[in-house]
Amino acid sequence: MDSVIISRSLFGSSLAFHIIFATLGVGIPFMILIVEILRKITGDEDYGVMAKRWTKGFAVLLGVAIPSGTIVGVQMNLLWPGFMELVGQTIALPFQIEIYAFFLEAIFMSIYVYAADRLSPNIRIITVFFVALGASASAVLITAANTFMNTPAGFTYENGEIIDVDPWAAFFNPSYVTSAIHVLLSALMTGAFAITSVAAYKLLKTRNKPREAIFHHKAFILSLIIGGIMSVGTAVNGHQAAQELHQYQPEKLAAAEGLFESQTNAPLVLGGFADPKTHTVKYGIEIPGMLSLLAGNSFDEYVRGLYEFPEENWPPLYTHTLFNIMVGIGTFLIFLVGFVFVVYFVRKKKGLPRWLFRLLVLVGPLSMLGIEAGWVFSCSGRQPWTVYHIQRVEDAATASANTMLLVLFLSLYLLLAIIVVIVLLAYFKRKPLANDLNNVKRKGLET
Ligand code: HEM
Repeated sequence: MDSVIISRSLFGSSLAFHIIFATLGVGIPFMILIVEILRKITGDEDYGVMAKRWTKGFAVLLGVAIPSGTIVGVQMNLLWPGFMELVGQTIALPFQIEIYAFFLEAIFMSIYVYAADRLSPNIRIITVFFVALGASASAVLITAANTFMNTPAGFTYENGEIIDVDPWAAFFNPSYVTSAIHVLLSALMTGAFAITSVAAYKLLKTRNKPREAIFHHKAFILSLIIGGIMSVGTAVNGHQAAQELHQYQPEKLAAAEGLFESQTNAPLVLGGFADPKTHTVKYGIEIPGMLSLLAGNSFDEYVRGLYEFPEENWPPLYTHTLFNIMVGIGTFLIFLVGFVFVVYFVRKKKGLPRWLFRLLVLVGPLSMLGIEAGWVFSCSGRQPWTVYHIQRVEDAATASANTMLLVLFLSLYLLLAIIVVIVLLAYFKRKPLANDLNNVKRKGLET
C-alpha cells in the first residue's frame, strides 16, 4: 500500500477513535457541573447521585482519552514530518497553552474524584467548574491546529521558506473562532445526548422500579433540555461555518453541495450522491436558490462551483454525503427534541410512549456519528492539501509508513473499545443505582 494512504488511514483511524473519548470528555464534565449546581440550588440528592455515577464513567473515558490523545500527538510527528516542520514554526502556541489546560483539568479532577465527599457544596462546584473549563479549553485550543490547516494565516511563505511569523495571527486564523465554538457546542450536545440515551434505555427497563424511574426521568429531562439547546446552537453556528466556507474555502463548499457550475441563484441539494463520472448529484432533492441564500444571504449571491478549480485540486465528492450526514443529524435532533416536548405537553401525565423512548436511545450514538462525519468532512474536504493552498498531503507525509502498524493500531483500538464497554458495564453492575439511592435515604438526604 502507498505510504501516503497508510499514513492517512493510520492517522485518520487514530483520530476517529480518540475523538469519541475527547468529545465525551468535554460534554460529561459540563453535565456534572450542571447537576452539582442543581444539587446546591434544590437540595435534591438525586443530582448528587448523578454527579457521582457520571464521574465514575467519565474517569474511565478519560483513562482512554489521555493515551489515545498521546498516540495522535506522537503519530503527528512520525507520520507527517513535512507538516510538523511547517506547523512547528507557525501554530505551536495553542499546543503550548493546551498543556496548561490539561494540567488544570487533571489537578481539579483528582481533587473532585478523591475528595468530593469532604468538600463543601460551593467548593465542589468550583472544583468541577475547573475540570469542565480545562476540558473545554483543551478542545478549543487544539481546534486551532485544524482551522490553521483550513485557513492558514500569520506568516509569509516564499520559495518554500516560512518568514514573518505572527503566532497570534496564526492562532486566530479566519475560521478559528467559528470552528472552536462549533466543536465546543457539538461536544456539549453529544455529552448531554449520551446521557439521554442511557436514561431513555433505563426508563424502558425500570417500569417496575418507580424510585429508579424517577431518578432516570430527572436525568432524561435535564439532558434532553441541555442537548436540545446545544443542538440549536450547533446548527446556528454551523450556518456561520458554512458562510465562512463560501468565503475562505470555496472548493470545500462546492464539493459539500455537489455544485459544479458557478452561478447566482445556486440550488441547495439535499441528500443524494455526487457522481464523479457524470458530475451530477443523483437522487438528491434540489431547492432552487437556497445555497446562494444560505451562503451569502441573497439569491443573487454568486457561488463558485468546482469547474472553477483545476480537477486535481477538487476535494473528494463523497464529502457531499458526509456534509449531509452531519447537517441531517443536527436537524433531525432539533426536531426530535421539539417533538418530544410537544408530546409531553399533549399527553400530560401519560408521558412519552415507549416507541419514542426507543427512538431516543439513539440520540447519543447519532450525535457521535455527527461528530465523526463533521471531522472527516472538515479534513477530507481540504484534500489534496494538508495546509490549504500551501502544502500538499504527499509533501507532508513520511515515506516509511508501514501496513503492519496500521493493522496493529486498528486491533488495539478495537480491543480498547471492548475493554471500555466491559469495564463500564461491570462497574455499574457492581454498584447498582438502588444502593446509591438507598444511601441517600439512609442519610436522610432525600427530598
Ligand atoms: C445542523 C447544521 C450544521 C451545519 C450547517 C454545520 C456546518 C459545518 C461546517 C460548514 C463545517 C466545516 C468547517 C470547516 O471545515 O472549516 C463543520 C464541521 C464540523 N461539524 Fe458541523 N454543522 C452542523 C451540525 C453539526 C452537528 C450536529 C455536529 C455534531 C453532532 C457537527 C460537528 C462538526 C464537527 C466535529 C466538525 C469539524 C470541526 C470543524 O471544522 O469545525 N456539526 N460543520
